[in-house]
Amino acid sequence: MSIYFDEQKKLFRLDTSGSSYVIGIYDQGYLLGLYYGGRIEDMHFDRFMTRINSFSPYNPKVKDREFTPDSAPMEYGCNGAGDFRISALCVRNANGDNVTDIRYAAHRIYKGKPAIADMPATYALDEADCTTLEIDTVDRVTGLEVTLVYTVFETQSVMTKSVRVHNASDSPLVIERVFSACNDFPTMDFDLITLHGRHARERHIERRALVHGLQGVSSKRGASSHNQNPFAALVRSGATEESGEAYGFNFVYSGNFSAVAECDYNASTRFLMGINPESFEWTLQSGETFFAPEVVCVYTDKGIGEMSRIFHRFYNRNLIRGTFKDAKRPLLINSWEAAYFDFDTQKLLDFADEAKALGIEMLVMDDGWFGKRNDDTNSLGDWYVNTDKLPGGLRPLVDGVHAKGMKFGIWFEPEMISPDSDLFRAHPDWHIHVQGRDPMLSRHQYVIDMSREDVRANIWQQMYKILSENDIDYVKWDFNRHISDAGSVSLPSERQKEFFHRYMLGTYALLEKFVSTFPNILLEGCSGGGGRFDPAMLYYSPQIWTSDHTDPIERLFIQFGTSMCYPTSAQSAHVSACDRTGYETKGNVAMWGTFGYELDPRKLTAEEKEIVRRQIQDYHKYYDLHRRGDLYRLVSPFENRHYAAWEIVSPEKDECLFTLVCLRHFFCGSLYLRLRGLDPDKMYTCDLDGEQYSGNFLMRVGYNMTNLANQDGASIQIFFHA
Ligand code: DGJ
Repeated sequence: MSIYFDEQKKLFRLDTSGSSYVIGIYDQGYLLGLYYGGRIEDMHFDRFMTRINSFSPYNPKVKDREFTPDSAPMEYGCNGAGDFRISALCVRNANGDNVTDIRYAAHRIYKGKPAIADMPATYALDEADCTTLEIDTVDRVTGLEVTLVYTVFETQSVMTKSVRVHNASDSPLVIERVFSACNDFPTMDFDLITLHGRHARERHIERRALVHGLQGVSSKRGASSHNQNPFAALVRSGATEESGEAYGFNFVYSGNFSAVAECDYNASTRFLMGINPESFEWTLQSGETFFAPEVVCVYTDKGIGEMSRIFHRFYNRNLIRGTFKDAKRPLLINSWEAAYFDFDTQKLLDFADEAKALGIEMLVMDDGWFGKRNDDTNSLGDWYVNTDKLPGGLRPLVDGVHAKGMKFGIWFEPEMISPDSDLFRAHPDWHIHVQGRDPMLSRHQYVIDMSREDVRANIWQQMYKILSENDIDYVKWDFNRHISDAGSVSLPSERQKEFFHRYMLGTYALLEKFVSTFPNILLEGCSGGGGRFDPAMLYYSPQIWTSDHTDPIERLFIQFGTSMCYPTSAQSAHVSACDRTGYETKGNVAMWGTFGYELDPRKLTAEEKEIVRRQIQDYHKYYDLHRRGDLYRLVSPFENRHYAAWEIVSPEKDECLFTLVCLRHFFCGSLYLRLRGLDPDKMYTCDLDGEQYSGNFLMRVGYNMTNLANQDGASIQIFFHA
């Protein structure tokens, strides 16, 4: 077992190969979060518990007068009972106050990992994969019961945290906030790394030193969003890609979230991650339980790069599921940037002809095939074929594409409704809105009320008809606006603040129905590019469209940021017709993702077609390396104005694909780039010069890149094999 309980000292220790996490049961049942960091064996934690200050409240029943919840490292800080820091939990009781004070009641340790009701979560491959600790706590005054759930994946330096809140009293309780993870650290010598952005500029890396007070990121847009990702890392000041301590936190949720750090007067840090308390409340009737989503916590003392690799391996192994977790995914061409709304059956069949000749394996018909949709002003919700564009329906197109030996994919935006649609005319109250207000439009559309079973049933019926009557191999599930005017006509007034979370539960229910009914359809997530690029979506869709910006130079920033915690296998990346760089660079950058095309193949010149054919050969050659390999970010575009470089190394360390992209030409006498992650004792053949180099040489001296690809937008890919 990797979770121990020291009965005498009343201490839990949760170990993984690279980390230990210690929780103490203190006097009067207070739960203390005593340690999270590198592996330890002995546990001398007595002195960590006492840090009283003037003005700090104390509990007269606690023997040690030095103890105060105000500055002790609380395992799960609650509101109003002596801990003045930002609270993880705040529950209003029948008296109307929201003082919340939970104490230890019982615990269980067992192999395996429990599912979280109705929610995406990471999973164990088998019982031996991980160990779980559940600590039951109780607020004796209100009858609130809170179970803190921890699972450690021993071999992976990963721990997950989630929380269950149960009402064991006779009266309703109202949860005002419930974070899924709370970590108190005794110091504040950390930098906070987060991923900010906007549409077409997602997940840019931002790093700042912690300061006293509150700081963090959040979303209240009804989606995890382009603007801030539900990822945060606390890295020890001075930590780099290759060295130093890094704690990574990623929320398995696609809705409103908050990730916040507070540094207090003791220069200690509390970090919280969970559902955004703003616009949230949940009424628990007697006997009911609320399940808060899960946070994945990664610890390493080997730098930020290693933190990312731990996330990547873990998500490929314990989050992504279904047929395409391991099965080779088809190389696709998507119609969006090639034709936008302007296509018909013949044009798509012509695309397929050209694409097939190049070696592309699947044609995806994007937005515009349904209702009367010729632009983005109408028809969302009318999921029947536009026969003006596709005479005879989908069949001639789908069969035609299959007859060429290609697969066929289609686009949906199931969570949306256009005011100009048959669905809206039939059901004018199905869109999200609140009484007495005209809801805001965005991209001419409303979001549909996914919290309602009847609404979901209608959308499902329509999708099911299309998917069951046609031989469809792939679906892109898009989501092109955020949620304003949030509320549901189906909820009573006192439950309106439950809407955002109920929306997510409804969406997850529909997604689950989709993947369980059509397990062999490859699902790609999308939200105006990467607006819902989060681990919860990866639970359903093994790949997500990373960004609507397909220019490879912009993509470098987006892909570097996305790789902070999301694996290469998940980052959908296409070569498009944008013209800032040539096709070599477009391919070299898209190769760092799922790889595909998004252009009119009829317009490629003979020379460009030749490049595309070579890229497709490379895609197959390096497919396994990309799916199984470890990513090393060698030179970040956020830190170097001239070039960016990265490397994928096979787990056996016998193959390495190195890529360098020049952002802009620079004068340079000599440029040796040191590789990483190789076996120092292995000899590697370089496919560029045919020479042999030891791993030791390549990592200590480097490879001579002087004047290779040193032009604006140029790039080079070099393969080393042992
Ligand atoms: C946004 C997506 O990111 C694009 O790829 C495309 O599918 C459009 N929506 C279609 O409306």
